[in-house]
Amino acid sequence: GLQACLFDLDGVLVDTAKYHYLAWKQLANSLGFDFTELQNEELKGISRVESLKKILTWGGLDFPQERQDELASLKNSWYVEMISEMKVDEVLPGSFELLEELRTNQIKIALGSASKNAQLILDNTGLTPYFDAIVDGNVVSKSKPDPEVFLKGAEMLHISPSGCVVFEDASAGVEAALRATMKAIGIGSPKELSKAHLVVEDLTKIQLKAIQNLF
Ligand code: BG6
Ligand code: MG
Repeated sequence: GLQACLFDLDGVLVDTAKYHYLAWKQLANSLGFDFTELQNEELKGISRVESLKKILTWGGLDFPQERQDELASLKNSWYVEMISEMKVDEVLPGSFELLEELRTNQIKIALGSASKNAQLILDNTGLTPYFDAIVDGNVVSKSKPDPEVFLKGAEMLHISPSGCVVFEDASAGVEAALRATMKAIGIGSPKELSKAHLVVEDLTKIQLKAIQNLF
């Protein structure tokens, strides 16, 4: 049965997916091109370095690694500026209620995020105290859809993957959960996240009962 819930951060618990998009768009525009919201879907869940590589491909550009590192830092400085003012009111609806319900029922809670800025966001929004384990972009070496981030989370919680559920807004993240042999709940559009065991619009639409029913 259900023993642990692993949460992606950006786009699941907080609406930072929009800030990532704005900062990447600003970078692409500064290089003389643009990309669509549909293309942006492909950036969700993947690391900063891999996102930049995709964006440069879309723009038909290629730079030496050193220049790429500079561009990634530039995007991150804009992004950090956007998230440093974040407060508890930017936690997405239903998040605190679900986390409380899980805690009351002794279900373990972990973060499984590709972001190196995860801790700052959790601290600014008051989410940190809910987590029994935090796995973020500073500790994983392989980007989603590789299952590493979620397998590490389960390991830190001392819980088998078969007792875990992952909450994800990115198709790369849903795939990572499935490769980790965990249950996956998609947050967002059923079309983008069709491989998930269940898709809901947001966290207000899911309760413990429904999560347990996946097992
Ligand atoms: C993921 C986001 O959570 O973190 C991606 O979905 C982002 O869009 C990735 O690229 C890395 O984040 P950061 O904060 O380390 O640049
Ligand atoms: Mg996400």
